[in-house]
Amino acid sequence: MLKGKEVLLGVTGGIAAYKSVLLLRELTKEGANVNVIMTRNATEFVGPLTFQTLSGNPVTTDMFSLFKGAEIGHVSLADRADLLVIAPATANMIGKIANGIADDFLSTMVMATHVPVLFAPAMNTRMWDSPVVQANIARLRSMGYHFMEPAEGELACGVVGRGKLADVEEILEEVKGLLYDKDLAGEKILVTAGPTEEHLDPIRCLSNRSSGKMGYSLATVARRRGAEVVLVSGPSCLPPPCALAPVYCTTAREMEQAIHDHLDGVTTVIMAAAVADFRPADPAAGKIKRTGRQTLELEPNPDILAGLGQNKEGRFLVGFAAETDDLIANARLKIEKKNLDMIVANDVAAAGAGFCCDTNIIKIIDRDGTITDFPMMSKEKVAEVILDHLAARKAGK
Ligand code: PMT
Repeated sequence: MLKGKEVLLGVTGGIAAYKSVLLLRELTKEGANVNVIMTRNATEFVGPLTFQTLSGNPVTTDMFSLFKGAEIGHVSLADRADLLVIAPATANMIGKIANGIADDFLSTMVMATHVPVLFAPAMNTRMWDSPVVQANIARLRSMGYHFMEPAEGELACGVVGRGKLADVEEILEEVKGLLYDKDLAGEKILVTAGPTEEHLDPIRCLSNRSSGKMGYSLATVARRRGAEVVLVSGPSCLPPPCALAPVYCTTAREMEQAIHDHLDGVTTVIMAAAVADFRPADPAAGKIKRTGRQTLELEPNPDILAGLGQNKEGRFLVGFAAETDDLIANARLKIEKKNLDMIVANDVAAAGAGFCCDTNIIKIIDRDGTITDFPMMSKEKVAEVILDHLAARKAGK
């Protein structure tokens, strides 16, 4: 996802410096070329060799070490970069930059760069709460610098409170958000994800193996690309995607209600949820006892997507088709039956596709019947191509 991107990673002197090693790993795994700049204090916590080995690039620790021919070190690094992330950012570094002090390589670099700068602060709770630090942060924010909120928890000094470095995953997501084109700005996309559960009795239910991964990836990537996102989620063990608060529901009828409650201003609906088509006709009030053979009577759930298709009000509707046979024919029928603009067909019997796994294999079928085939890809990449496709169709391409 970050292939071809040049990222500068600034590391300042705090115990959370070890976590920036993990951030570096994630950035390079995503394909970014990372140059690390450490303050002298940071080198007391983690050796530069660790960052050098993992980034494959020399680590800058010294103001006067990077002169290459006629290039001035900090300017040439700053010119090549797409983004500078400082993690951890100490109160000292934040204070220096907020007040125009450039007395080491990193603070000089911040002054010399025109690219987005993201601070991920980490410090003692009382330092974080101090009016001086907060005023410095407010000043930097007002100048267009970006900040992660530190997390709450037990700090290295034993105090419990706010001040821990934000999760590496959250920093990575923020980095991606700052690097992505906001081509979906102005869109409000409602994504559904996960299974529904239909109760047989207080402890048993009818459900399916949907993990929510496909829908959560769509919501994450759509937000990254600038869309306002509403994520309606059935029961899922996944953590909520960064910066999104899912609207949780359990049954198909609850999901239908949650969608209708959040439809205001929605321009596109993407139904990746695996909604149960049937529910037990007479759920028991108490646990059903083991009494030999049982017959279960089911009644149909509402077809949520078909309902939305009957009353589109200008919304672009994307369905999924989870099939085990006659993939194309069944998916085409669903486009008609549910009045969709496009459908994402996945053969859920194929290895590496469908429920639970981290990958999917899809075909996108447009309303006019055109089929676009894709190879097996991560669900995040699948989300990218689905959003590319719908953006192109909405633009009339
Ligand atoms: O969550 P994961 O583990 O990542 O798995 C992803 C997935 C396999 C669940 C996803 O890729 C997928 O295929 N989702 C749709 C599953 C499904 O219910 O397909 P369907 O062919 O039965 O339904 C067609 C469409 O109608 C779907 O968009 C579905 O959300 C919608 N539907 C279905 C039944 C119903 N009562 N109401 C609906 O709105």
